[in-house]
Amino acid sequence: MIYLDNAATTKPHKEVLDTFVQVNELYYANPASIHEAGVTANQLLARARDQVAQILNTEAKEVVFTAGGTESNNFAVFGTAHASTHKGKHILTTEVEHPSVLEAVKRLAKEGFEVEYLTVDAKGVISLEELKQKVRKDTILVSIMHVNNEMGAIQPIEEAAHIIHSQSRALFHVDAVQSFGKLQVSFNGEAGPDILSISGHKIHALKGSGVIAFRKPFSIVPYIVGGGQEFGLRSGTVAVPQAVAFAKAARLAVESMDAQYKKYEVWQTELRTYLQHFGNEIHLLSTEFGVPYILSFSVRGLKGEILINALQKAGVIVSTSSACSSKQTKTSHVVEALHVEQDFKKGVLRLSFGMQTTEADIAAFKGAFEQVMKQLKGEVVG
Ligand SMILES: Cc1ncc(COP(=O)(O)O)c(C=O)c1O
Repeated sequence: MIYLDNAATTKPHKEVLDTFVQVNELYYANPASIHEAGVTANQLLARARDQVAQILNTEAKEVVFTAGGTESNNFAVFGTAHASTHKGKHILTTEVEHPSVLEAVKRLAKEGFEVEYLTVDAKGVISLEELKQKVRKDTILVSIMHVNNEMGAIQPIEEAAHIIHSQSRALFHVDAVQSFGKLQVSFNGEAGPDILSISGHKIHALKGSGVIAFRKPFSIVPYIVGGGQEFGLRSGTVAVPQAVAFAKAARLAVESMDAQYKKYEVWQTELRTYLQHFGNEIHLLSTEFGVPYILSFSVRGLKGEILINALQKAGVIVSTSSACSSKQTKTSHVVEALHVEQDFKKGVLRLSFGMQTTEADIAAFKGAFEQVMKQLKGEVVG
């Protein structure tokens, strides 16, 4: 099967899996134990944390291992909001965030926080003017994703950081789940985010691994309480093998980031040109201003699941706009936010590339798609 669904999840690298198995076999002791085996496990954990901290340009004690992007996002939202009520109750986010942010702020709204949503334009990008107008003295949290998982729009994080930090005391949280390892993601003083969420399974590490990282010590209420592990911020015996595997995958991704990006750019351009052959049967949701490793488009009048099944029969795996909305029948909130024409709302396909994608996969997709369009639409490439 040709796998072009890397924004949903990636296949773990062989060497990352080997590391995971080895740490499980040899260094399975609890890193909080004071015997020698525990100390060794703790040293491995510390090394993994140092490596991640270095990549993110922060101190090791600001890196907390979590079970993934959802947990990191929930922690960022609840943890900062509940720690900041003395400063205000105003929260800003965007209408195109991942549900792990949107559902969390919805819950806060029920608790009495005031939540406002920034709109996006047809390119999926927020307006800095709107941000300027909406950030207030009593804003306590602004949560803006770096790269949108459904169509690849990149948000202007640096410019947003400048506005947020100059107009308020709010913490700036960035969901970097779809950008880490592919774009430059790190702390940069006041010119960048305060909190970052990262997920392991999007960078060829294991599912159930991730990181929340802080620019510096902030007041934040722990989200999972218990034995006080992870500097008291995330209780529970630390999953050392996941953490070590995460650090390895992170290093591999960052080391080859530029070369991978160039590869994705070639494929994005190639596929955009290819799709032009289908004329007005296709509507592109991804723009050339977005990331090159996500390409979302819609086929007129067809349902996403029909296209996905037909492509699967032809040997190619892709998603509808997002893996989590693909099982739901309602149009995704991102597609709604982009004001996509009615005819194109249902048939959204998302192709997403990863470090293991090859040129042959792209060629295979083109062959399969042509076959599917012929079959479903009687369409012949001109
Ligand atoms: C932008 C974004 N944020 C958060 C998440 C959630 O990450 P996880 O699956 O690790 O919980 C995802 C996963 O699809 C995502 O794409």
